[in-house]
Amino acid sequence: MMKSQIFAIFIVSIVVLPCCLCARISSSSSHASFNSFNVVDYGAHGNSQIDDSKAFLKAWKSVCDASQNAPTLVIPKGKTFMLQPISFQGPCKPTKINIKLEGTVIAPKKLEGWKWSSDDDEKDAWITFSNIRGLVINGGGQFDGQGASWWGCEKCNRPTALRFHGCGNLDLNSLNHINSPRSHISINQCNHSKISNLRISAPKESPNTDGIDISASSNILITGSTITTGDDCIAINGGSSFINVSSIYCGPGHGISIGSLGKNGAYETAQEIRVQNCNFSRTTNGARIKTWKGGSGYAKNIIFDNIIMDAVDIPVIIDQQYKTDDIKVKKVKDDKAVKVSDVTFLKVRGTSTSEDPVQLNCDAIGCTNINLEGIDITSTNGEKTRASCKNVQGICSSCTPNVPCLSSQNNLTTNKFL
Ligand SMILES: *[C@@H]1O[C@H](CO)[C@@H](O)[C@H](O)[C@H]1NC(C)=O
Ligand SMILES: *[C@@H]1O[C@H](CO)[C@@H](O)[C@H](O)[C@H]1NC(C)=O
Ligand SMILES: *[C@@H]1O[C@H](CO)[C@@H](O)[C@H](O)[C@H]1NC(C)=O
Ligand SMILES: *[C@@H]1O[C@H](CO)[C@@H](O)[C@H](O)[C@H]1NC(C)=O
Repeated sequence: MMKSQIFAIFIVSIVVLPCCLCARISSSSSHASFNSFNVVDYGAHGNSQIDDSKAFLKAWKSVCDASQNAPTLVIPKGKTFMLQPISFQGPCKPTKINIKLEGTVIAPKKLEGWKWSSDDDEKDAWITFSNIRGLVINGGGQFDGQGASWWGCEKCNRPTALRFHGCGNLDLNSLNHINSPRSHISINQCNHSKISNLRISAPKESPNTDGIDISASSNILITGSTITTGDDCIAINGGSSFINVSSIYCGPGHGISIGSLGKNGAYETAQEIRVQNCNFSRTTNGARIKTWKGGSGYAKNIIFDNIIMDAVDIPVIIDQQYKTDDIKVKKVKDDKAVKVSDVTFLKVRGTSTSEDPVQLNCDAIGCTNINLEGIDITSTNGEKTRASCKNVQGICSSCTPNVPCLSSQNNLTTNKFL
């Protein structure tokens, strides 16, 4: 090497190296190194005590306004961030946004410690994400709704932990979520979204702690998750269509439910719903459709396929007269009900704690084209099981217990939806 070349390299390193450093420093002080926005750089403490909501909102503003696509909001490992009820609002500039939750996010521990902002008159959720498209949340971290102090309060209007409203292409995966005051996750007015590899848990006795609630949404896939709570593992409510649920381990809890639909005389619909390859263990219900007397609308094109039941109280249930004993329900007009049709229960097998594991309880308008095939449910205590049914029309093929009110047929079900 020539002396002058060595000299040139020397000059370059003196001039360039410190400049690299200063570039790093200036970019991290503007919180934007490599399109990644760490909440700690925005002043979040992560000590589980101090309210970090303001820092999260500042970081969110940078992410939502980012000029480069696919920015990442980082919630780092090894820290616990306490958030008051908070709302992340879109629409955002980027068409894709990542939230990497590697640490833990917790709600205030005591119910008196929750501080609602003045513009939040609904007080219905701890963390709300609204009108954001292309949001991806993952990272293996945890949401902890600190629900224990709420569960004992009967007259409280308990909030949902995570509420997604108006989302599209949402992707929630690889997250833990515990102890919500009410439902853990609510998906409302969303489309084309995927929820996978979640672990949701709350004590069996905790009230209304559904795992995932879906309403007014379409094209949603929920897969590969374990849900252990005090209420429905998954509830698919009014306005839902093209919903797939697969490879879910549910229990304890109340099972996977379509509805309830038609409460207080409402018109509601649910259709094109597939629940496949799921296991229920020690749940009160398994595969369930529930609608209120006096409502209208329909639940149709629904299939529960390849379901294993382990000590479930009522594994297969359609209830078109949900809570008929309820005083308010008794007052509604008797002749109205949500229409239930084109429902298939295929390959549902395992054990039940009851002697009545298949209950098809329809109202006067009846349930039509209800097809059961490959049902094999025995009782945990060895007692003989039976099916009960009322006002139901359909086919039963290879069913234990036999379902006498359905016509039996030895070939495949006739549901067009299959
Ligand atoms: C999804 O929802 C958004 C917002 O409501 C809507 O603009 C869009 O058309 C929907 N996409 C489909 C395919 O339904
Ligand atoms: C649901 O499953 C059906 C049949 O496998 C498939 O055609 C459809 O694309 C799936 N939808 C979603 C949202 O996963
Ligand atoms: C359900 O149980 C079967 C048999 O034990 C197992 O092979 C399958 O992986 C389980 N699936 C889920 C989602 O737990
Ligand atoms: C299935 O059963 C129905 C009604 O009994 C009959 O019409 C149809 O031909 C059968 N299909 C086959 C493939 O056996």
